[in-house]
Amino acid sequence: MKILVTGGAGYIGSHTCVELLGSGHDVVIVDNFRNASAESVRRVEKLSGKKVALYEGDIRDGKLLDRIFCEHEIDSVIHFAGLKAVGESCAKPIEYYDNNIYGTLVLLQAMKKAGCKKIVFSSSATVYGTPERLPLDETCAVGGTTNPYGSSKYFQEIMLSDVYKSDDEWTVVLLRYFNPVGAHESGQIGEDPKGIPNNLTPYIAKVAIGELKEVGVFGNDYPTHDGTGVRDYIHVVDLAKGHVAAIEKITKAGVYTYNLGTGVGYSVLDVIHAFEKACGHALAYAIKPRRAGDIAACYADASKAKRELGWEAKLGIDDMCASLWNWQKKNPNGYAK
Ligand code: NAD
Ligand code: UFG
Repeated sequence: MKILVTGGAGYIGSHTCVELLGSGHDVVIVDNFRNASAESVRRVEKLSGKKVALYEGDIRDGKLLDRIFCEHEIDSVIHFAGLKAVGESCAKPIEYYDNNIYGTLVLLQAMKKAGCKKIVFSSSATVYGTPERLPLDETCAVGGTTNPYGSSKYFQEIMLSDVYKSDDEWTVVLLRYFNPVGAHESGQIGEDPKGIPNNLTPYIAKVAIGELKEVGVFGNDYPTHDGTGVRDYIHVVDLAKGHVAAIEKITKAGVYTYNLGTGVGYSVLDVIHAFEKACGHALAYAIKPRRAGDIAACYADASKAKRELGWEAKLGIDDMCASLWNWQKKNPNGYAK
């Protein structure tokens, strides 16, 4: 199959492209490099030994998308392109809604024009808001999102479902990711956050390498086994394979929703200790106040994906930390030389 991967130069996109190419698919990427660089695509090509058609540009540029659909016979789209920082979305809601919601609208218009009616969308566990119950399964209530980023994911899910309601030839797959972490085993591609990382594991990696002083643990008074926040961390390579499963297994029109997680929750302290094992030395941390908007615990019931896609996460927390440490050591400045 020929797959258009929006945001394919980014963290999850680049790992997914490696898995798609490794499974015999052709890949076309469109990315505006807002949060990535062409270097990741170069490395994807090197790792897979295959060429990728790369378009530098914005998904809000309808003319560019029309050109891509004209130049390639695209079977499906995997839609990663978007802004994803929760805190930034509160400060810049207009930018987030413009990029994420308007971007998806322009993409859907171009797909409709080209007669390409299959899309796999990067959604998020944030659509569940404060979990109704744990583990979260796909029937749990959505909405009640607490920031513009999460709201944009929730709205995009509704938009995509409405497209199917209007035309039942569409295939819409909503993949709700839990917390993607880690890197490709080669250490050639990984997460390359700009500035000081917001997310836990890239922050820990920067403490481990000596770039940051200590990990701030945001709250130790949650109702969890050690008082710190619990999340369902999923290895990015497992997550990437989930996209291949979705592309290959879902052949009938409809709207399909899957949680992609491991089903296991780890606390902030569990992750710090797992990373200490991976890097071989103790890591400094300090307990800080709770971070606004955080929930105590969030983990998936991922059994639907196993049942229907034949996919399940295989890699554990030690693999996640070891691969992240490998990437961090090999690329102390990320993709920048
Ligand atoms: P990322 O920032 O590394 O990747 C997103 C890519 O999209 C980047 O390469 C960026 O340059 C590109 N992009 C952004 N806006 C664009 C636009 N208008 N036109 C073209 N390209 C554009 O982020 P990621 O972690 O790989 O996330 C990919 C997707 O998965 C996002 O939609 C994100 O919201 C979603 N997601 C991520 C997480 C996570 O924790 N990483 C969790 C749940 C969902
Ligand atoms: N945390 C710390 N210190 C830090 C950073 C985070 O203690 O420096 C804690 C948080 O309080 C939370 C846990 O580590 O308990 C995980 O926090 P992250 O920021 O790594 O991840 P979140 O669960 O907040 O959110 C992430 C992505 C979202 C995505 C969501 C899906 O940032 O985009 O996972 O579950 F939607």
